Amino acid sequence: MKFFLDTANLEEIKKIKSIGMMNGVTTNPSLIAKENIFNKNEIDAHYISICKLLNNEENLSAEVISTEYEDIINEGIKLSLLSPKIVIKVPMTINGIKSIKFFSKKKIRTNCTLVFSLGQAILVAKSGADYVSPFLGRLDDLSFNGLQLIKEIKEIYDNFKFKTKILAASIRNPIHIIECAKIGIDAITTPINVIYSLFNHPMTNIGLDKFLKDYRKKIK
Ligand code: G3P
Repeated sequence: MKFFLDTANLEEIKKIKSIGMMNGVTTNPSLIAKENIFNKNEIDAHYISICKLLNNEENLSAEVISTEYEDIINEGIKLSLLSPKIVIKVPMTINGIKSIKFFSKKKIRTNCTLVFSLGQAILVAKSGADYVSPFLGRLDDLSFNGLQLIKEIKEIYDNFKFKTKILAASIRNPIHIIECAKIGIDAITTPINVIYSLFNHPMTNIGLDKFLKDYRKKIK
């Protein structure tokens, strides 16, 4: 199961990279807007800086901000030329799906984002996207069962042996990651705090504290 970090922050990427728990990065326009970046050239330079932190097996999903077909194609091609590590993140719209079909024929990798239903997930797979990003947390926020959606997407993709990888997005807590692992999907993308939460257990801290106290009482 691959772990992507859902961020555009270089320091966060370096931290998770250094503990070896990162297989790539996903960004979105809101995450980019949180960084100290103010124009298109700076955004491109920022994407290149992120790619430099990744090895050749890792990738960065960079999202288009265009909504018209021709514009998505032009923006996506430009993004793909920044680095071979870039996967073009495209929203789940008619123009988005048309663009994914185009990119797929050109062997440009894509991640279809803002997926909230099974119908959308089927369209994404049929378009030839490399990744589908169902938004777990945002569904839960509205009292829909995000994990149920992930489970059913997996069932349908398995039925047809679709090659599109399921990358659960909008992860809010460690339970989301654990349940996604039980369902057996390909990947999750998570904010840094949820990765840290996976490490925590009070019994680990209590146990370590006791081991060290016992040792230090006896051994100088
Ligand atoms: O990057 C897409 C997704 O992970 C966004 O998550 O927390 O804004 O719902 P969130």
